[in-house]
Amino acid sequence: MLTIRLNNGKEMPQIGLGVFRMHEEQAAIEAIKSAVGIGYRHIDTAAYYENEAAVGKAIAQSGLARETFFVTTKMWNDVQRNGVPMQAFEKSLQQLGFEYIDLYLVHWPVEGKVINTWHSMEKILQTGKVKSIGVSNHRICDLEAIKALGGTIPVVNQIELTPYFQQEELLAYCKANGIAVQAWGPLGSGKNNLLQEPALLRIAQKHGKSTAQVVLRWNLQRGVTPLPKSANPARQKENVNVFDFRLDEQDMKDIAKLETGKRQGFDPNCVDF
Ligand code: A2P
Repeated sequence: MLTIRLNNGKEMPQIGLGVFRMHEEQAAIEAIKSAVGIGYRHIDTAAYYENEAAVGKAIAQSGLARETFFVTTKMWNDVQRNGVPMQAFEKSLQQLGFEYIDLYLVHWPVEGKVINTWHSMEKILQTGKVKSIGVSNHRICDLEAIKALGGTIPVVNQIELTPYFQQEELLAYCKANGIAVQAWGPLGSGKNNLLQEPALLRIAQKHGKSTAQVVLRWNLQRGVTPLPKSANPARQKENVNVFDFRLDEQDMKDIAKLETGKRQGFDPNCVDF
């Protein structure tokens, strides 16, 4: 698996396995072990997903060294409002059964808490038990507030990003500021008919690939790290088999036209959850 270099010099595998909605522990362990067998080394979980323990067990059972993996987890919003960030981090570490976490993210920008939370993240970084800190679902205004502190710049902003919601402006801002962008729900989270989109079907046919592969390849060519979720071994394999073809300029232009301006998931402008 190819990697990209983060702004602190650490390497991150270019595709990660999303594990949101893998609820049942044994099934999650099996799905993650299957992905590891296929070659996934980057797993994206969150305290909110309630499957950190399954991620830790799957990695332990894989027999591969902990250092071969890049594991992300995230701090949930209630911690920012009423909790103790350091305790939340320690709990995630304990659930995973790890001595360190590769990447710890602020899951959502909670109104009025962005700056305080980032100060807490920097304290967590100082413990040495996390290699990198970053954010998720943060807007340009949130990133500007963090940047104005003059401290650590987030290594990553993980956002909803699909051909229907391309995040052109936020992506350009992150690139200009050395923040790597990860895409959650890159395949449309199974909610819209993205993978049946006629323009994508045509491009897929042209390259002898699936529409999912075209979407993932489009992410890579824009410098974005996609985090497709799949519990199905055949689809897990399909989703990393995207390094042997290239979308041409016309393909990229045709995909650019699919922007709808509509997001699929929650809106960071109203984080009341
Ligand atoms: P499954 O786990 O059964 O493979 P996203 O990553 O955008 O959240 O999308 C995840 C959804 O898309 C899941 O329902 C997943 O189902 C499905 N999925 C994942 N990979 C593919 C693929 N290559 N083709 C079609 N559906 C896929």
